[in-house]
Amino acid sequence: MAYEFITTRTEGEKVGIITLNRPKQLNALSPQLMVELGQALKAFDADAAIGCIVITGNEKAFAAGADIGAMATYTFADVYGDDYITRDWETIRSIRKPVIAAVSGFALGGGCELAMMCDFIIAADNAKFGQPEIKLGIIPGAGGTQRLPRAVGKAKAMDLALTGRMMDATEAERAGLVSRIVPLDKLMEETLAAALMISGYGRMAVMAAKESVNKAFEGTLADGVMFERRLFHALFATADQKEGMDAFVNKRAAVFKNQ
Ligand code: CAA
Repeated sequence: MAYEFITTRTEGEKVGIITLNRPKQLNALSPQLMVELGQALKAFDADAAIGCIVITGNEKAFAAGADIGAMATYTFADVYGDDYITRDWETIRSIRKPVIAAVSGFALGGGCELAMMCDFIIAADNAKFGQPEIKLGIIPGAGGTQRLPRAVGKAKAMDLALTGRMMDATEAERAGLVSRIVPLDKLMEETLAAALMISGYGRMAVMAAKESVNKAFEGTLADGVMFERRLFHALFATADQKEGMDAFVNKRAAVFKNQ
């Protein structure tokens, strides 16, 4: 499919890479870009060869937020009635394969929220995160006030949402927002290594792990543990579980068939 505001490619025929591509606007997330991102995510999710998806930007910006120019004249009827800004954001949550955010440069506002919707964030050492919406007379609108406190705790989330300041990669890693920091010139190499590793594991176990970790943020501990237990039990019905354990016992490399 031809896209205008993103590009897509694959790595090793196993990893789908989506690059946000509005460099002059620091990858501001316009409604059309979000439509394209949703289409690309769904296409990779449906592609049996793909085991993991990466979303990235460019050196200067992962994404500097929702497109302020597009939003500036919106009315309540536009944004609530017609859901102009956030309508296409929920697609990301429906993706069943793991999605990694490879973040360099600015990840602000909707850019930070997009990164947080991914399953984990690998940050380049020049990454900067923040929810500066307060400076525009609004608040985060794509999950920032909900996912940020879950990731970094109330104190830092309040600090960021109320002051609008940015935090650098070191602070973000210390706070638990990002899983690891890598040198800028190694960002894609390290991210693709992780994505290829994930793609090599049994697909059902990978999807179950993602689903189960996400459950930890949605219900009670007791419900989450029971949900995990059922998925754990169910994986014993897969051929990949037999293969993975037989390979370990017989000291050989496992070959998963996603069955
Ligand atoms: N929307 C639209 N355009 C944007 C943009 C955005 N979010 N962020 C940057 N741009 C544009 C700028 O207008 C500028 O365009 P021109 O060259 O045509 O003037 C271009 O990108 C480069 O930006 P700067 O010249 O400002 O670059 P800088 O290096 O001096 O500053 C920055 C970088 C600190 C990120 C600054 O651009 C900035 O503060 N951007 C806005 C960040 C922001 O407020 N994001 C939240 C948006 S609201 C939101 O996301 C709502 C939600 O929750 C869904």
